[in-house]
Amino acid sequence: MAYVNTKEILDKANKEFYAVPAFNINNLEFFHAIVEGAVEERAPLIIETSEGAIKYAGNGDPFRGAKFFVDLVKGYAESVDIPISLHLDHGKNFSFIVAAIKAGYTSVMIDASEFPFEENVERTAEIVKIAHAAGVSVEAELGRLKGVEDNVSVDERDAVLVNPDEAGRFVELTGVDFLAPAIGTSHGAFKFKGEAKLDFERLKKVKELTGLPLVLHGASSVPEDLVELANQHGAKIEGAKGVPPEMLKEAVRYGINKVNTDTDLRIAFVAGLRKSLADDPAQFDPRKYLKLGKEYVKKVVKERLRFLGAAGKA
Ligand code: G3H
Ligand code: 13P
Ligand code: ZN
Repeated sequence: MAYVNTKEILDKANKEFYAVPAFNINNLEFFHAIVEGAVEERAPLIIETSEGAIKYAGNGDPFRGAKFFVDLVKGYAESVDIPISLHLDHGKNFSFIVAAIKAGYTSVMIDASEFPFEENVERTAEIVKIAHAAGVSVEAELGRLKGVEDNVSVDERDAVLVNPDEAGRFVELTGVDFLAPAIGTSHGAFKFKGEAKLDFERLKKVKELTGLPLVLHGASSVPEDLVELANQHGAKIEGAKGVPPEMLKEAVRYGINKVNTDTDLRIAFVAGLRKSLADDPAQFDPRKYLKLGKEYVKKVVKERLRFLGAAGKA
């Protein structure tokens, strides 16, 4: 259908109360698996790349890497029947953000969440000015992505999680298009020691005060069956725990519209790759031994598109 602005995809999701997963990619196999899954589910799609992914694809050069991803995603989007956008995930360095905007990404994240509020505002507002002038939409983050244990004090929770009262002011001062509030998730495969818990009260307030499409980072569910399969074939992933799908659905009810997903794809792929190499040790054609990993990634993609409500929305 088309290579579109992420804002177009997320404004629709916000209006119609569903979420679109944003899938991180670093290479061709994941990209193909994700697009195939989204086309089969007739879902809008957000592809995102980290600064690390851009560096990897450009063999060290951000401009080359950003251009590589734009050529890949834009070229492909023109030949399939769903809207696809390309987003820079966790832009922290000016050079990567500018590289993404110049190359043709349709949205960027400025992640200045590690700085005090005023500095986060200042850095975000500067990127919004540059990006909007180029027709590119912007995501920013408030609070820090860090698991919060049950037994921590109120002060400690306040120090880490989003302060909803700041959210409305932040949006007004920066003109940002989407906001990622920290509500207790963290990146990677080890999100919670005990039971999974998110601060939905904060999320509800942020939605009420901003009305913007909201983003959940660190949203992988870390499927137990895939971790087990990987471990059966030589992986050592112990004590992994993600955000259960039911909890993600609840987050969508309270206003999450973009669900960042990287770890689940990595686990699916490594499970398939390990199984494939173990089952057919004579195989040395990468197009063949990478195939099962790709199939598992596609399965995860399709499941997420369905339970987040994005399936059928293209
Ligand atoms: O938020 C982080 C994403 O999972 C990307 O991670 O920096 O390893 O590419 P990365
Ligand atoms: P996961 O590590 O939970 O997949 O989170 C990915 C993410 O937030 C990318 O920005
Ligand atoms: Zn993230």
